[in-house]
Amino acid sequence: MSLANRRILLGVSGGIAAYKSCELVRRLRERGAEVRVVMTAGATHFVGVATFQALSGQPVRTSLWDEQAEAAMGHIELARWAERILVAPASADAIARLAHGHADDLLATLCLASAAPLYLAPAMNQQMWAHPAVQANLATLRARGVHVLGPAAGEQACGDVGSGRMLEPHELRDALAASFGDGALAGLDVVVSAGPTFEDIDPVRFIGNRSSGKMGFAVAQAAAEAGARVTLVAGPVSLPTPPGVAARVDVRSAAQMQAAVLDACARADIYVGAAAVGDYRPAEVAERKLKKQAGADLVLQLAENPDILASLSARPRHPFLVGFAAETHDVAAYARGKLARKGLDMIAANQVGGGLGFETADNALTLYWADGELELPRTGKAELARQLVAEVAARYKASRA
Ligand code: C5P
Repeated sequence: MSLANRRILLGVSGGIAAYKSCELVRRLRERGAEVRVVMTAGATHFVGVATFQALSGQPVRTSLWDEQAEAAMGHIELARWAERILVAPASADAIARLAHGHADDLLATLCLASAAPLYLAPAMNQQMWAHPAVQANLATLRARGVHVLGPAAGEQACGDVGSGRMLEPHELRDALAASFGDGALAGLDVVVSAGPTFEDIDPVRFIGNRSSGKMGFAVAQAAAEAGARVTLVAGPVSLPTPPGVAARVDVRSAAQMQAAVLDACARADIYVGAAAVGDYRPAEVAERKLKKQAGADLVLQLAENPDILASLSARPRHPFLVGFAAETHDVAAYARGKLARKGLDMIAANQVGGGLGFETADNALTLYWADGELELPRTGKAELARQLVAEVAARYKASRA
């Protein structure tokens, strides 16, 4: 997505992730954005002013009290110039100062003085990230409409492993690009379901399936990148919420997923059912752990689960419906059968097995709709999701034309 002529103010606060913000400036400029960088005093301990100056092609400001810079473009002018302010990395201190409305350095002052939407990309040690003080400050900022991008979980510069890694430069760029709302799904409400469902047998056992949720999460991210307001209904997975996704509802069983999807779809334009919903659940959930009866088989009675997609398509007013079909053989025939039987607008079919499908990084899909089909050859799930979303947008628009 283009950022041509978009004016981005990048605030860099003091954290080791500041080195990634150098790359971020390049990624933003590649897409045509004008970038002006403001560094806090702390940031200059990690990266030199000259680095950002060279990468942005603009003077870098570090102080509120620089008379020459104020004469060239005063801080109020700079605040008005910005269409978006992104603070990346946003340190725990920067977050606290913004939450409390400080105005004793240039970056904090600009955030107060600008009407531009504010985006934060937190980056800090996992223990700091988990601290209630940091979380309370973020809750305050979120309640004021500030957008928080990430952080991701993983290995940290300090050697810890956990939540607090700054999102990658391309993820931050894509979230900003999507915020301008000129993507293929701009202005549309999209609901995506993802992951497996778990059906409890007793307090310690359940029936589940091998869906990783990766494909559905990639679809949610791609839809957000395309400008949609995305609600992600996630089964039990431990994946982080993709950048740009507006709301996430975590559920466990098919019944909970159905309730969450029906609720979110009351105002949705498009629903993509990427979840692997269990077809059956134990007819009764035992209140106590079932005891082993030595020498005897255990018989579980299973009750049929509701079909979420079919229940949506039975509604007189329903969103554009996209289903998934994971098949081991006769893919085309089964997929077209489901398209008709469930009353769908489009179905994305993949062959399970041969190294593709659940838990894999790659996938391949064939899309079917009433009078057409399209093959999306094997590639990474993120890229595949983008291609799928582009096609969903085209079919959606054709259906409403
Ligand atoms: O019939 P099958 O489970 O193969 O269909 C898969 C598609 O139907 C997926 O899009 C899945 O999310 C959806 N589905 C559903 N409710 C169910 C079972 C599947 O919405 N109970």
